[in-house]
Amino acid sequence: MWISFAGIITNYKDVKQFLVQKGHKFRSDTDTEIIAKLIKHIHGLHPNYSFRELVEQVIQQLEGAFALCFKSMHFPGEVVATRRGSPLLVGIKTKTKLATDHIPILYSKDVFEFGGRALSTRDREHSKLKDHRPHGHEIPAHGLARSQSTSEFLPQGDNKEVEYFFASDASAIIEHTDRVIYLLDDDVASVEKEGVLKIHRLKRTLEDTHAREITTLKMEIQQIMKGNFSSFMQKEIFEQPESVVTTMRGRINFDSETVVLGGIKDYIGEIRRCRRLLLIACGTSYNSAIATRQLLEELTELPVMVDLASDFLDRNTPIFRDDVCFFISQSGETADTLMALRYCKQRGALIVGITNTVGSSICRESHCGVHINAGPEIGVASTKAYTSQIISLVMFALMVSEDRISAQPRRSEIIQGLRNLPDQIKEVLELDSKIQEISKKVFEKKSLLVLGRGYNYATCLEGALKIKEITYMHSEGILAGELKHGPLALVDKGMPIIMICTRDNVFVKCMNALQQVTAREGRPILICHKNDQEPQKYGSSVLEVPKTVDCLQGILTVIPLQLVSYHVAVLKGCNVDCPRNLAKSVTVE
Ligand code: UD1
Ligand code: MG
Repeated sequence: MWISFAGIITNYKDVKQFLVQKGHKFRSDTDTEIIAKLIKHIHGLHPNYSFRELVEQVIQQLEGAFALCFKSMHFPGEVVATRRGSPLLVGIKTKTKLATDHIPILYSKDVFEFGGRALSTRDREHSKLKDHRPHGHEIPAHGLARSQSTSEFLPQGDNKEVEYFFASDASAIIEHTDRVIYLLDDDVASVEKEGVLKIHRLKRTLEDTHAREITTLKMEIQQIMKGNFSSFMQKEIFEQPESVVTTMRGRINFDSETVVLGGIKDYIGEIRRCRRLLLIACGTSYNSAIATRQLLEELTELPVMVDLASDFLDRNTPIFRDDVCFFISQSGETADTLMALRYCKQRGALIVGITNTVGSSICRESHCGVHINAGPEIGVASTKAYTSQIISLVMFALMVSEDRISAQPRRSEIIQGLRNLPDQIKEVLELDSKIQEISKKVFEKKSLLVLGRGYNYATCLEGALKIKEITYMHSEGILAGELKHGPLALVDKGMPIIMICTRDNVFVKCMNALQQVTAREGRPILICHKNDQEPQKYGSSVLEVPKTVDCLQGILTVIPLQLVSYHVAVLKGCNVDCPRNLAKSVTVE
């Protein structure tokens, strides 16, 4: 059985328990496996069911949001796909024109419309993991003659060749075909041996249109993928209210305030017993380690080392069997990070990956890890992966500290903070036009300093990195505590400065630094909390962000800087998605 699965099965524990009682053995704790075992189970009970009937039985038992695609050695040359809550479409590629622009729905049950609602409730009761066979014969949809139903769908002319593509997003298939059918919830699409595509539904309902239209996509591939945005980077910045949700999906229960990272939970005992944590990464991923180090120290009570992979390798750092080493990389292929991973693995440490790419080298070579699930990141300058890396590491800290009673109020505060984050990110994104105006004031300058400390220090590093990367302007993230040890010499009336000053345990110190800057006639652009009058007095302009828990604040303060870098790059005419000299995943040594 080959299953491609996106989404989450919320009742997978119940289904699993049922299957365990029936004698099925499980190799993993994933919901994907219960789907495979469930279809196997039903196939065992009903060897005569068609592939499509088996899938129909399976999805009646599943709750949650999913898109599924099945292949099986028992049904060679067939594919069955279905969805509920998650998007799924079928791309159709033929050599000649199709005979029709829609495909009728076939209903698996001989049930007519009247009383549809009452019937469907009863039917659902029936199907609770019981032996319940859908009535085999198909009836065509209302208003369509039988002959229209299936085979005429095939291409006209001699060349009957047809290819089907199943994907959750048109951008994945547009290079092959522009003809697609968007499936609706609980549609079951099957491609059978003769290459005929059929779409079935178990029951007909009043609302259903009885056919699915074949849509022709008009947009160019790049356009589809970018939507209304001018670049992938901009799209990805604006995706963050959703990408942070997918990072947390299925992992945090906000009501019971529990966090489970499926990829790490079997190793949590070993991690709690370790001597120290090491976070090793390059670039933006390194900044996400800086962003979470303080919280990791607080909640794990372990020493935490943060290292740039290249420097770590240069040093021949001592590594021990009771070390736990994290390797953070969006692509999972970053060469230095991967080499550092191998170095630590050889010395017996536990290797944990934090990656965005399933099946990547770091994912494969690590003992365990977390997929950050931010979705593909195409812009070379990382944005949504950064915020999702932070959230993944925060979730890790929450999980490790689950049984520490004294940490509960803190954990609870953070979990509620995570819950509110998507809405707060939306609020920050509304600053976009204000940020564009501010960018006009700085884009012709030679240099831009970004100052802050505490949890916002990582934001300074990451903001400056974004600016360097895509605007080619010199930019430096400076720890405000270091100001008087050198960088203050740079400050004068003409030096553009962005300063982050939020109400946390270093606020007073930050205000201090701010006054040192203004005393030298610096007029910084301020990022501070909404309606916080005190720092605003000192700013040439102010970007107000909502307040969240200190350890999450960096997510809300980095977004204005992502937008600054984006707007400055556009104003300077730079290629936002492909900055000169840089590549998406740095795999060369
Ligand atoms: C998994 C499923 C997800 C499903 C969920 C529900 C995958 C990829 N994920 O997510 O579709 O919804 O169960 O139970 O099938 N790993 C590494 N190194 C890394 C990253 C991950 O070894 O750098 C390993 C993990 O230890 C784990 C596996 O890869 O064994 C999947 O990791 P992850 O996707 O984070 O696990 P879940 O969130 O449980
Ligand atoms: Mg692995």
